[in-house]
Amino acid sequence: MPPCGGALQNPTGVEVRGIEIFRNPYIKLCSNDLRELGSMGEDWRFAGADTQYLTHGLHPYPARMIPQIARRLIERYSERKDVILDPFCGSGGVLVESMLLGRNSIGIDINPLALIIAKAKTTPLEPSELERLWLELREAIEEDVRGLRFDRLEVEVPKIPNLEYWFKPQVARELAVIRRRLDALKGERAYFFFATCFSLTVRKVSNLKPGEFKIMRMPAEKLKKHNPNVLQTFIEHVEERIPRMVEFYRACDENVFCEVLLGDARRLPLKGGVDLVVTSPPYGDSRTTVAYGQFSKYPALWLGLRGVTGVDKASLGGRPTDGEELPSETLKRTLEEIKKKSRERYNDVLWFFSDLFRCLEQLRGVLSGCCCFVVGNRTVRRVQVPTDRIIVELGEALGLEFETLIRREIPSKRLPWQNAPENVRGEKGTTIAKESIIVLRAKR
Ligand SMILES: C[S@@+](CC[C@H](N)C(=O)[O-])C[C@H]1O[C@@H](n2cnc3c(N)ncnc32)[C@H](O)[C@@H]1O
Repeated sequence: MPPCGGALQNPTGVEVRGIEIFRNPYIKLCSNDLRELGSMGEDWRFAGADTQYLTHGLHPYPARMIPQIARRLIERYSERKDVILDPFCGSGGVLVESMLLGRNSIGIDINPLALIIAKAKTTPLEPSELERLWLELREAIEEDVRGLRFDRLEVEVPKIPNLEYWFKPQVARELAVIRRRLDALKGERAYFFFATCFSLTVRKVSNLKPGEFKIMRMPAEKLKKHNPNVLQTFIEHVEERIPRMVEFYRACDENVFCEVLLGDARRLPLKGGVDLVVTSPPYGDSRTTVAYGQFSKYPALWLGLRGVTGVDKASLGGRPTDGEELPSETLKRTLEEIKKKSRERYNDVLWFFSDLFRCLEQLRGVLSGCCCFVVGNRTVRRVQVPTDRIIVELGEALGLEFETLIRREIPSKRLPWQNAPENVRGEKGTTIAKESIIVLRAKR
């Protein structure tokens, strides 16, 4: 392991192109004002950068970490063959970058659909073998769909709650024949790739409102004209994405491992051996704004994945925790402010940070190097929650030294720029437009 920390030494104190960098050892973070130390002109916005290259573009996912950030952190804080952990791996962007940079990696998430996508994005497939499997699969599905359309084939449609509300009958039958053929591929490495394309197909042909992470039905007028061609949609998704798989196969280092595990960051299934953590935890608004479970629900149910309906509740802060006092003055002050406005939201924030503290404890136990978090400072009832500062304070209490804090502007974003803080229609507040990258270091 190289010593942690990059060469960010320019103490100019100015914000350079939308970036603020705070760096140890000059600052005492617990003081009220953080002293800015400049950035040596490093641009962390990555405006205009292609964030969908290779397998990064296989499938959308809420609040993805852009690959450029993952890459810079991995390059700066680890060496070839090191082990990188992302305990909230989502769709696996950190794992892809680790493989491209010759690092071993482990990804953990509670969302089973996220793991299918992450697995697809990190499984190099030999191009001619992929081509052969696809030709066979395509031929079999085309034959089945013809059978369905000419009443020569019966298919059992999986039991999905409110199926008729979310899928037109012919759509459901055609999805069922594809699913049946996919099940037969379950032992193959290519299964995850085809399952990911199927997930995209499910969303596209469903009655869900396009472009939404939450579950919403299309408006009635649109629904009347909605007659998707399921087979064609699936074929297009696969064929548009095969070149990405081929390029990834050629670009990644096959001599490293990448493990993707269903698990909970509050109880890591690891004993140690992690050189670097790069991760973006949920923001604590999974039940309201960024609903990973809702986003994944129908594709996961169609793939027969269990547990997806509990994801948002199982997410950090989703369930009550005992009201322990956490070692962060900033958190205490923030909670007091929120409590004046809403007891319910006070609990949400308290539970979230209690869970996050559990995760930090776990990470501290398995880590020998740096721990990089990418987070947003959200507002709750118009009170800013300085998640970055709170993470630094909680980490310090556990013996993780503060290394660097970089605040970057987010050039474009799919999340709403405004929310309704008091749940009153038309009363808007701003959501996150900046992101913080925090680097902590396990004491040697
Ligand atoms: C901000 S997203 C990560 C996105 C990811 N970096 C990417 O690029 O796709 C946060 C993830 O944390 C997961 N998550 C929430 N609570 C968790 C927990 N207790 N343990 C593990 N993962 C959790 C969510 O399912 C979600 O995938």
